[in-house]
Amino acid sequence: MAGFVCRVPSAAGRGRPAVWAVAHANVALVKYWGKAPGPGHQPATTSVSLTLDGLTSAARVEERPANRPDRVAWAPPGPVADLRRFVEHARTQLGIARPLDVLVTSNFPVAAGLASSASAYAALTTALAALAVDPPSVERLAALARHGSGSACRSMFGGFVQWRPGEDARAVTQLAAPERWPLAVLIAISGSGPKRVPSREGMRRAQETSPFFDAWLATNAADLAAVREAVGSRDLRALGTAAERNALRMHATALGADPPLLYWEAATVAVVREVWRLREDGVPAYFTIDAGPQVKVLCEPGDSQRVGQALAGVPGISHVLRSRPGGAPRVLREPPEWAFASCPPPAAGHGRA
Ligand code: DP6
Repeated sequence: MAGFVCRVPSAAGRGRPAVWAVAHANVALVKYWGKAPGPGHQPATTSVSLTLDGLTSAARVEERPANRPDRVAWAPPGPVADLRRFVEHARTQLGIARPLDVLVTSNFPVAAGLASSASAYAALTTALAALAVDPPSVERLAALARHGSGSACRSMFGGFVQWRPGEDARAVTQLAAPERWPLAVLIAISGSGPKRVPSREGMRRAQETSPFFDAWLATNAADLAAVREAVGSRDLRALGTAAERNALRMHATALGADPPLLYWEAATVAVVREVWRLREDGVPAYFTIDAGPQVKVLCEPGDSQRVGQALAGVPGISHVLRSRPGGAPRVLREPPEWAFASCPPPAAGHGRA
């Protein structure tokens, strides 16, 4: 998979050496779409996701000399206000006294409906926790990651993950480890469309203005039960049927918003039809779509070649990413090979002193 490469100049004169951590994106099978009041992106409903191997973010964290401000950046560069706020919050939660030098990057298209903020904040939370004097449990770290982006809490675990509203220690839990069900996940990437509305804004608008939003909330329990049962029994047909239904209902709330939100492009609809055609031909494949035009398709590993070829042949699809259930975040002592190899130094662009 192509990656952004970025060599980070050492921030010299610090205490401990830099820490890197990686975390994977996740795809929601029961969507988080709507918030409850409260700090740190509390969800209105319970969601279930699958962590995606290979779609990875990496965070690099290093302490700075005591009299310096934090320096935070995305690579490639992006707006840092939320990132800076998160670092400040995490520092207090984790008891990190020194200012920090933070850089976060991903090896897949950011802001394209592929949940890069989930993997980014999960990687960053994991790297920051490695600097904590008394590192908290993964459950507490999931609660912290949620302050960066709600779906990030699910990327703190591998495999199938459930996130339910509330602050208790079991709000985010693993339903099944990645090895338990080796599914294939194919992601059909369509060409650039109109600038999408970020999921945060989309879910806010749907919640505040869509007449279908109450119905969406009312269907959560049934979809959740169906997906949980399907994961427990490794029943792809049951899982896929519930995931498709849930995704379409989420998008129905978006279509009903005022002004309306249409995340789909022509290629999105064409992929949906292709998935249904594959099923008519006897290939069990099922789609889900988040807040963007990309379609993620679940199938058996033995069918992934055929499904991948079919998706790649859909007009408007530029390429197909292949993934499978992925694991939990990891701390690294070296940067991952794809990241941090040749970025300009902070003064030239991606950092702020
Ligand atoms: C459609 O986690 O990106 O992907 O909490 O506001 O940062 P914030 O939103 P975010 O929303 C993800 C929405 C979704 C569905 C899902 O992942 O469950």
